[in-house]
Amino acid sequence: MLHAHSALRYLVLGTGIALLIITGLALAQKKKEYGALPRGLGSAFIGLTHLQILLGFGLLFQGLYTPRLIGHIVMMSVAVVVAQVAHVKNKKAATPGFTLPFIGTLGSLLLMVGGAFAIGRHPFQATVFGG
Ligand code: HEM
Repeated sequence: MLHAHSALRYLVLGTGIALLIITGLALAQKKKEYGALPRGLGSAFIGLTHLQILLGFGLLFQGLYTPRLIGHIVMMSVAVVVAQVAHVKNKKAATPGFTLPFIGTLGSLLLMVGGAFAIGRHPFQATVFGG
């Protein structure tokens, strides 16, 4: 399960970075319509982060808990809440735009970097695969 948690992080970060680039470019180009691509990427990012949290709790149930994980768990959980709130608020807005998802995704990714550093890893480091 730790292998799955470690590997899924690449999908989570990849989707988040793609969403950040798409929404950032749209803001720079002053695009108006929040189309299918950012919508799909947003949903994928949120869905994958939820799955990641589920796997994370699975690891705790397997007995992998140590006190130094608290920073990881708190920062990753806040990261997911930030992304989710920005995504839902934007979806519910009369005219969904790019600012909210851009800021939410940026904040979420920065928190994820912090969450990785909290367990002494950089975000792309995979100790379970020997990295
Ligand atoms: C979006 C959310 C999350 C991301 C991106 C993430 C990412 C990671 C990464 C990159 C690692 C290191 C894997 C490696 O060294 O190969 C890790 C380890 C771990 N994570 Fe998460 N994580 C998230 C949320 C959580 C949550 C919510 C929990 C617990 C409830 C959790 C529990 C753990 C545990 C127990 C480890 C193993 C620690 C160790 O080997 O020292 N993670 N996570």
